[in-house]
Amino acid sequence: MKLCMIGTGYVGLVSGVCFSDLGNNVTCVDIDKKKIENLKKGIIPIYEPGLEELVIKNYKNKRLNFSTNLKESILKSDIIFICVGTPTKKGGSAADLSQVFNVTKEISKYINKYKIITTKSTVPITTGDEIEKIISKKNNKAKFSVVSNPEFLREGEAIRDFIYPDRIVVGTNDVKSNKILKSLYAPLISKGSQYIHVSRRASELVKYASNAFLATKITFINEIANLCEKLSVNVEDISIGMGLDKRIGSRFLRAGPAYGGSCFPKDTKAIITTSDKFKTDLSVVKAVIKSNENRSKLLLNRVHFFLKNKIKNKIICFLGVTFKANTDDMRDSSSLTMIPYLNKKGAIIKYFDPTGVKKDFVKYKNVLFSKNIKSAVDKADLIIIHTEWNEFKSINFRSLIKNKKTIIFDMRNIYSPLKMKQQGLKYFGLGR
Ligand code: UGA
Repeated sequence: MKLCMIGTGYVGLVSGVCFSDLGNNVTCVDIDKKKIENLKKGIIPIYEPGLEELVIKNYKNKRLNFSTNLKESILKSDIIFICVGTPTKKGGSAADLSQVFNVTKEISKYINKYKIITTKSTVPITTGDEIEKIISKKNNKAKFSVVSNPEFLREGEAIRDFIYPDRIVVGTNDVKSNKILKSLYAPLISKGSQYIHVSRRASELVKYASNAFLATKITFINEIANLCEKLSVNVEDISIGMGLDKRIGSRFLRAGPAYGGSCFPKDTKAIITTSDKFKTDLSVVKAVIKSNENRSKLLLNRVHFFLKNKIKNKIICFLGVTFKANTDDMRDSSSLTMIPYLNKKGAIIKYFDPTGVKKDFVKYKNVLFSKNIKSAVDKADLIIIHTEWNEFKSINFRSLIKNKKTIIFDMRNIYSPLKMKQQGLKYFGLGR
């Protein structure tokens, strides 16, 4: 099939490359000329394991193409995927859909044969209805279908999530487009993936409800971890004890810093905007947002406690600053709250991240990038393990730490408190 991915960010690039690998003819379009030129040379704009190899392979065999020519790319395609950004509106909580609607207006000009227009970006419920209205102004309804097919890709695991999805959700209000989408996904369905066909609005809501639920699960265990600390109970025992109940499940039950990334914070806020619009109170999701916003404050209080309220001139080392491992993405990472706060209180911050120096911290005096773990932890009064990168999982702290007073605050519960204690290390995790 001939596909056009509009927007070559995370969603469009990963999905486009994977669709081409399944044998489709895919054009990834973007207005950013430099990005497109780079992609043609195999230079990938994001860090995502496995992506570079797939781009190079499929570009060479000509199933994958990159272009800045929107008109030409739309004209030659059967299915168009809208993959542009839907960030939170400045100063608000609703999603900014200007890019989606600009692209829609362009598409409406070039419907030369029956086409399916699919939203892959996370778009608020009823956006499909709006897109349909815009396109029908210029075109007969028989010549196009507007479909919702949300992505459920995790950064760092995106290729795997695309190839082995738990489910493929397709929302259409007609039979024809569903049949075509089902055949597009046939290679994944034949390998055992579930294909769910629902209405377009339902599909849009499945995406938001899924992210809001996952955010709720994380926030729930984070609050239980707070209680565990007071009770001298290990939260990991609770996660295991709860997770073995098949109705609950063990995934996304790991206590940690405030959840971040480009999706959970944005999507939880956007679903509240939708519920307000339709006069429904999503009080649980509202509580989740509030609790997550408080989480960094709470963990910073623990830092105050560890350092006996004397933050000034203390050397604090952050291992990992991205919102999670296997990504270079800093969006809504809790380190963006914690590091500036501690810096303002007079601490000297040294950080190491496997994805390198971060522009977010360049403007701060005394927030310094270290080239490796050894130099980052050197002379630190406090080491904060912020992100669960594999290379932080077997650090020999005993040999690296010279100062006996150095405290390790493991926000990802990577190490065994008992083993750390046996080595004479001052070690604290979360909820244990
Ligand atoms: C999330 C969803 O998991 C994807 O299914 C979805 O497609 C994507 O958003 C999106 O909407 O595009 P992602 O943002 O890449 O994916 O990250 P996650 O792996 O879900 O992690 C989000 C945050 O939750 C991170 O800060 C992570 O550290 C935290 N987390 C996750 C925990 O604190 N504990 C856990 O047990 C799991």
